[in-house]
Amino acid sequence: RTPRRVLVVANRLPIRARRDARTARWTFDTAPGGLATALRGIATDVEFVWVGWLGADVPPAERPRVAERLMREHGCYPVFLDAQLVDRYYNGFCNDVLWPLFHYVPLPAYQAGAEKKFDARLWEAYKEANARFADAVLEVWSAGPPTENDSTATSKVPDYVWVHDYHLMRLPLELRRRDARVSVAWFLHTPFPSSEIYRILPYRRELLEGLLHADLVGFHTYDYARHFLSACSRVLDVSTTTPKGIEFGGRFCSIGVFPIGIDPTLIRNTLKSRAVRRRTAELGATFKGRKVLIGVDRLDYIKGMPHKLLAFELFLARNPSWVGKVTLIQVGVPTRTDVAEYQALAKHVNELVGRINGVYGTLEYSPIHYINQSIPQDELIAIYHLADACLVTSVRDGMNLVSHEYVAAQESLDQDDTGIEETRPRSRASSSKDDDDVLQPFVKEGPGALVLSEFAGSAQSLSGAIRVNPWNTDELARAIHDALTLTRVERELRWAKLHRYVSTNTASYWARSFVDEFRDVCEHPPLLP
Ligand code: UDP
Ligand code: G6P
Repeated sequence: RTPRRVLVVANRLPIRARRDARTARWTFDTAPGGLATALRGIATDVEFVWVGWLGADVPPAERPRVAERLMREHGCYPVFLDAQLVDRYYNGFCNDVLWPLFHYVPLPAYQAGAEKKFDARLWEAYKEANARFADAVLEVWSAGPPTENDSTATSKVPDYVWVHDYHLMRLPLELRRRDARVSVAWFLHTPFPSSEIYRILPYRRELLEGLLHADLVGFHTYDYARHFLSACSRVLDVSTTTPKGIEFGGRFCSIGVFPIGIDPTLIRNTLKSRAVRRRTAELGATFKGRKVLIGVDRLDYIKGMPHKLLAFELFLARNPSWVGKVTLIQVGVPTRTDVAEYQALAKHVNELVGRINGVYGTLEYSPIHYINQSIPQDELIAIYHLADACLVTSVRDGMNLVSHEYVAAQESLDQDDTGIEETRPRSRASSSKDDDDVLQPFVKEGPGALVLSEFAGSAQSLSGAIRVNPWNTDELARAIHDALTLTRVERELRWAKLHRYVSTNTASYWARSFVDEFRDVCEHPPLLP
């Protein structure tokens, strides 16, 4: 176990908080999310402390108590932000400026007022929020062995600070201004765009300067790292850039590629659990005689949900024999609902689902089951396992973990331990019928197929997928047809490749590689020429 703690700093803590309006009592539970899962995998080797925003407006009088409980119960140190700052920093600069820019949709072709997109007040709020995060980090950070005059250091070894994502690009600089000794790394969970896109940003220089105070910066793919390097050489006056890093302001910032993954063991164990086997059997009975397609996305315009729906509609129009025989289960998790583009997208998706179900649905059949809320992990894994194909149609996506999860959930289950015989519960669909209809275990006939956008980071490594350009509706409709009609042997060959990658490039492998490299660049800093 490494003696140095790692402070994980992310905009959002891996905790969901709810406040009972009557009693003013807060309840916390762990929020699902790739980062939390990834770090759980190496928690036995490394001690983590989380620093981040709770995603809720905590009244000032309640903050000390909330902070104390979060640290004691969850190892989390909260950063409290006021509503106006959240609106300008999180809704404004992060999610209405950086997020679209990093996903190649910086501006509409024409919209009155678009020229005011890069409002300086949003940028000021971003800097202010990053400074607040830096203050919070310094409150928990241990600088190292206490000196005679310094009684503030709380442990004998200094902590590493690992910053995450586009919300906190000024944080390495803010930290170093406060204490030059800090060891800080930053990892980006989104794409880093081509420098031709990046240089649109009026604050392009200040963000890169913020990052280059880190000891290490990491990306999911080589393309993103390459884009970052070329943005630095174009925008900044940097003396040296090499594929390994950048010398800037008398320091060397190392660059690395660390593709994130999932926890396949967790999915396998969940699949084997009695509850999930039973649920899969119930769903198997409900969708008996039909093929199932699955889509799981935050309701975000980068996920290409309208593209998917349009292609599914075209597929049904072209293949009338499939009408009644295939259902698309589409999960659309509400997200960033205070941002106008997200509201417009939610409305558009509702209209498309309504239109397709209106044309192709009957009293007994809906081509699309749209679930406009988040669903529990067990339910999600049961649906993944049941589904004959998964459709990932992102127009841009840093990695896309849904594609990995679907692959992991295609493992076949041991037939002699179905987990459902003892109580013989009935499916919802058959609950009013005779004993003959008791629930049958769901038996998967080979793994399902993955349809994957070439614009998702995961497409660079998941070579067994059916790759598509989501903007080409005709191609996507044909890919849906192919996914539904591949032979079992073809599906098995593809899955073997996919599974090999997903089961070796796991979340804990990602976290471990990053922390090892971080330690290495801090202990053996590259020599400046
Ligand atoms: N997910 C979830 N609840 C849901 C639907 C999805 O927790 O109702 C999870 C999903 O299992 C996956 C993550 O959200 O781990 C989405 O990660 P991905 O990389 O695909 O996209 P992101 O949302 O980070 O852009
Ligand atoms: C992406 C980002 C994360 C973010 C998540 C959910 O995965 O890379 O940083 O936490 O989306 O978005 P939210 O705005 O709800 O935190």
